[in-house]
Amino acid sequence: APLVVAIDGPSGSGKSSVSRAVARSLGLAYLDTGAMYRAATWWCVDQGVALTDTGAVADAVRALPLVMGVDPQDPTVVVGGTDVTAAIRETAVSAAVSAVATNLDVRAELGRLQRAAIDAERAAGSFSGGRGIVAEGRDITTVVAPDADVRVLLTASEEARLARRALDVHGTADAEAVEATRDQVLRRDADDSTVVEFHTAADGVVTVDSSHLDFQETVDAVLAVVAA
Ligand code: CDP
Repeated sequence: APLVVAIDGPSGSGKSSVSRAVARSLGLAYLDTGAMYRAATWWCVDQGVALTDTGAVADAVRALPLVMGVDPQDPTVVVGGTDVTAAIRETAVSAAVSAVATNLDVRAELGRLQRAAIDAERAAGSFSGGRGIVAEGRDITTVVAPDADVRVLLTASEEARLARRALDVHGTADAEAVEATRDQVLRRDADDSTVVEFHTAADGVVTVDSSHLDFQETVDAVLAVVAA
């Protein structure tokens, strides 16, 4: 039977790497919905759209030529034939993404694409894996796929989240790197929180707190929720 696993969480919770590993372990497709908001942001900038012009941003995103690669071994993001998998992680995109993600017309459009991708994997697996998908983001358990078979909110203390993000971006979690990360991460979380709630679990969503778990322990904790 197809299996749909929805995982939400804030920045630095380990959501993306954990979700990928869970998908690999279960032989399922993997959808990084944050990468879709990043791709939409990259596209608006590429098209010269002013991010303050909400109507123009919405129009641009409705025309977004996006192809998401859903193999968890190699998740790719292609926009209009250009592989933007690396480019969407750059600081300029990270700094601008909340402006695009808080646009409700953008959320409706990307939510529609996300549901279509989930439904396609439910109906037929798109690669060697089985039928089903692990989809992760901020509002998958609540808005995009509230009917998922398994719904997990992956949380972590602010301290743990900042340390992980510093390690990702700066290669070290020393005090200076954590400080350099703090403003950006907390501001983006605060901006995102104005349109999506991802700090407390909705009814029926299982919380996994990764503050004191290492990577493999977190993956195992999520797999235990799937098996339960
Ligand atoms: O880098 P980080 O893990 O914090 O975030 P991400 O998963 O790459 O998502 C980037 C941005 O996309 C978030 O800051 C949100 O603004 C937006 N996003 C969203 O609004 N809804 C989602 N389901 C996923 C991401």
